[in-house]
Amino acid sequence: MTNLTPAQWVKNELLAGRDRQPKTEQANAYAPANIALSKYWGKREATYNLPVTGSLSVSLADHGTHTQLSVIDAPSHEVFLNGQQQAADSGFASKLETWLSLFTPANTKLRIDTRNTIPTAAGLASSASGFGAMSLACNELFGWQLDYTSLSALARLGSGSASRSLWHGFVKWQAGKASNGHDSVAYVLPERWPQLRVGILTVSSASKAVSSREGMGRTIATSKLYEQWPAQANADLETIEQAIMAGDFTRMGETAEHNAMSMHATMVAAWPPLVYWQPESVAAMQQVWQLRQEGVEVYLTMDAGPNLKLLFEADNEAKVLAAFPQLDVIQPFASNVSQ
Ligand code: PMV
Repeated sequence: MTNLTPAQWVKNELLAGRDRQPKTEQANAYAPANIALSKYWGKREATYNLPVTGSLSVSLADHGTHTQLSVIDAPSHEVFLNGQQQAADSGFASKLETWLSLFTPANTKLRIDTRNTIPTAAGLASSASGFGAMSLACNELFGWQLDYTSLSALARLGSGSASRSLWHGFVKWQAGKASNGHDSVAYVLPERWPQLRVGILTVSSASKAVSSREGMGRTIATSKLYEQWPAQANADLETIEQAIMAGDFTRMGETAEHNAMSMHATMVAAWPPLVYWQPESVAAMQQVWQLRQEGVEVYLTMDAGPNLKLLFEADNEAKVLAAFPQLDVIQPFASNVSQ
């Protein structure tokens, strides 16, 4: 067991034997956003972003983050989000700088251009695809030649769910046991599901009042209902993985929706209560349940925000779109999305 800080672990172990200077002037990378079907909610260790349980997600194909890194001659890093320079003390820039300081030599300054292909208002231009793309771009800029497992650990240090954003398709993040998190990494599942659709339903662009980090911390510290969460999350993870292998959409959808609602129940029971839903979120949930009663098989999942993600299959796409004309429909396994 080690008591290394994340920065010591990255330099001494993850990047052991690798030269620390950039190998090229510029590097580009893309990583997809992802939606967890079985959620990550709670850290067993906060500095390394180590989760209490494993989780399983599906990546959102062309909805994600493009990042370009350029070495610059300047006193500090320059951070651009969708073409707009971000103040160094903004939440976005400081999170990136903290992560870069884990391994970047003090004299290396970068211009970071990050562009999201997912509407920012959807609250989905998450840190997951951002840190996924940063990890891939740094691997190229510094010529590390790390494998994706190591890059998954590095991305996790920026944001837990980023560990799952390096691949297309279904991705599983195993909780791991080690105190330095070397085994808390994700990997892609071989199954494909060409008929699967994920619909992004933006019901409110109100910005997130409480970050996932703070929300998880508050839930663990104050919610009695959290005590039952790890057992359910582990069982749901297994059920969803089996449903994927069996191609059982009903089982996958029901378990994913139940998992998300249970996660939100743990938050509602926190103190002060944590409710990410807006009135429009609840109205949309009721519409989903109404559709199901009418025989349209559609399920919902939600993260730490007011918007819904709908799960359905291609044969129901027209009916789901008729009920939710504003839905942004994604094909995670479209033929042009290579795994
Ligand atoms: O990776 P973070 O710290 O943004 O946390 C993500 C938490 C959820 O989105 C609610 C669940 C998940 O597994 O993505």
